[in-house]
Amino acid sequence: MLRLGVNIDHVATLREARKTTYPDPLDAARLCRDAGAHGLTVHLREDRRHIQDDDVRRLKQADILPLNLEMGNHPEIVDFAVQLRPDEVCLVPEKRAELTTEGGLDVAGQKAGLQATLTRMQHAGIVVSLFIDPDPAQIEAASELGAPYIELHTGSYCDSFGVAADHELDRLKRGAELAHRLGLKVNAGHGIHLGNLPGILQIPHLDTLNIGHSLVARAVLVGMRAAVEEMLQAMAGP
Ligand code: PXP
Repeated sequence: MLRLGVNIDHVATLREARKTTYPDPLDAARLCRDAGAHGLTVHLREDRRHIQDDDVRRLKQADILPLNLEMGNHPEIVDFAVQLRPDEVCLVPEKRAELTTEGGLDVAGQKAGLQATLTRMQHAGIVVSLFIDPDPAQIEAASELGAPYIELHTGSYCDSFGVAADHELDRLKRGAELAHRLGLKVNAGHGIHLGNLPGILQIPHLDTLNIGHSLVARAVLVGMRAAVEEMLQAMAGP
């Protein structure tokens, strides 16, 4: 069965925009669980633009659903993860100025640094996933490193149309086949929404889809009517 990991970063984005105490990502996490999601993902960025250290600690302590911590391979965050012991860590490339994770990890080019982190994580009992483009050289490098999981970066497919989208989808399908042949478990994520999901579902051997931005965006619209009704009722007084 294909599993859904909900990335709740952008619940924290709304909170951080005003530095309020709401919306609390833990409240969102409980709603995700109640709706049937299989896991939660948060990206603790170096610049802490959305999820904060305390959010991750509270999520771990509350044990609402299995927790997947996305992170760059930076010493400070690696120490944090080893101490916290989330169920899973997904190593991603991270650039400060980017709007969101752009492109996959260069596993082939950063083997030594990734190997050291992978070993530390594995000793701490954390399952490691490497976020990579569907590039055969990167998939082979992930397998050589001994990572149990890869997450295929679906952004290029999700952001393109027509022939270009067909080409990107084909790369994802071939990448998933190769990873499966090499014994890797395959997740996928980035840019997935209801409109491009049918293509994503054609990718073989998928374990988990990690979806964030489109779900939080949709939740705002799905919830707007209830929120306005609630406010009007309160304004009408007791
Ligand atoms: N997977 C990874 C590794 C990511 O970096 C992100 C974005 O934080 C996602 C999944 C979720 O992407 P989106 O928010 O576009 O659904």
